[in-house]
Amino acid sequence: MAKSNILLTGATGYLGGSVLIRLLNHPDIASVNITALVRSPEKAEKLKPLGVNAVLGSHSDLALLEKLASESDVVIAMADADNIDAARAILKGLKKRFEVTGQSPIYIHTSGTGVLADNAAGDHAYDIIYDDTNADQIETLAPTQIHRNVDLELVNADKEGYVRTFIILPSTVYGIVTGKLVDLGIQHPYSLQVPAVIDASVRRGQGGMVGAGKNLWPNVHIDDIADLYVTLLNAIHTKNPAATHGREGYYFGENGEHSMYQIGAAVAQALVDIGKGKSAEPTSFTQDEINLYFGGSPFLGVNSRCKGNRSRAIGWNPVKTTADLLASIKPDLEASFHRKSVLAG
Ligand SMILES: NC(=O)c1ccc[n+]([C@@H]2O[C@H](COP(=O)([O-])OP(=O)(O)OC[C@H]3O[C@@H](n4cnc5c(N)ncnc54)[C@H](OP(=O)(O)O)[C@@H]3O)[C@@H](O)[C@H]2O)c1
Repeated sequence: MAKSNILLTGATGYLGGSVLIRLLNHPDIASVNITALVRSPEKAEKLKPLGVNAVLGSHSDLALLEKLASESDVVIAMADADNIDAARAILKGLKKRFEVTGQSPIYIHTSGTGVLADNAAGDHAYDIIYDDTNADQIETLAPTQIHRNVDLELVNADKEGYVRTFIILPSTVYGIVTGKLVDLGIQHPYSLQVPAVIDASVRRGQGGMVGAGKNLWPNVHIDDIADLYVTLLNAIHTKNPAATHGREGYYFGENGEHSMYQIGAAVAQALVDIGKGKSAEPTSFTQDEINLYFGGSPFLGVNSRCKGNRSRAIGWNPVKTTADLLASIKPDLEASFHRKSVLAG
């Protein structure tokens, strides 16, 4: 039987590397070929001995992306939730694959629960909880919400029948990645949102939050979210009827919820503990600080609330909780002194 071809984008990233290592350790690895689109020649060379067909290129090489997708049975996109041109190139390639094989290929895209954002500016929590099994509720999201244009492009393509689309929406992913791909200098070890708060807080010498920090976010540990990709692949492969696609193909990655005050307070305490913080009580970032540290983005002040019922229905069993998120802040803060954003001052 011919091996099936899996294409990865973002395989050297925080999320992507964690998924790649699980695929390389998967008991069925002998039955697949793994190709990865990689930007760095050095990382591409390091991936080849691990059995990864690393192809040098980026999202700017749309013809290459389309060609690679046209040779793939499965695409797992983990580089950029918002690059619509890249998503369209992948879809064009997958359509060609369908025309040649008669089988609708699988497209697993990484979005994010930021798509659920309101405009709270840290001043309040909201009580809408989005449920990934409720397609009607998800369709109430405006097409202008962040990530939504790409998500809709996939869902519309699925309706045409030539591709089966699955959208994984990680929430606040936390935890420092360790292991082979990090040791080899291939994988980024740090996440985005919590390290951004930590790095800004270290630079101002005080734990911070947007507004009063009353807004709520879901969270998920990096090991748990990486497991969700593999659980989904296994569920598709075994034809688990719960692994639905298209408009019924949203999978939230969450296992707990936190307020941004809790993050700011944990960072403030950790800074005090190491003698670099003014007070254990977090303070609001000023607009100037939001401009300086977060490019003016209001993102850390919004609400994003959801429940990953479909993710759990396919057998996903996340184990780490909000207590683990809060416990991860001190080690992440210690690590921040090696990060570029902190070293740059
Ligand atoms: N981390 C989270 O908490 C979280 C939560 C929700 C959603 N997400 C979304 O998930 C995606 C990945 O996040 P991450 O935390 O894994 O980020 P990351 O560590 O920065 O990884 C990004 C990956 O994409 C690659 N990449 C970036 N730009 C590219 C381009 N133009 N062409 C080709 N490859 C490119 C990077 O390659 P290099 O190695 O060359 O840099 C890296 O492999 C993002 O869209 C993010 O918004 C993340």
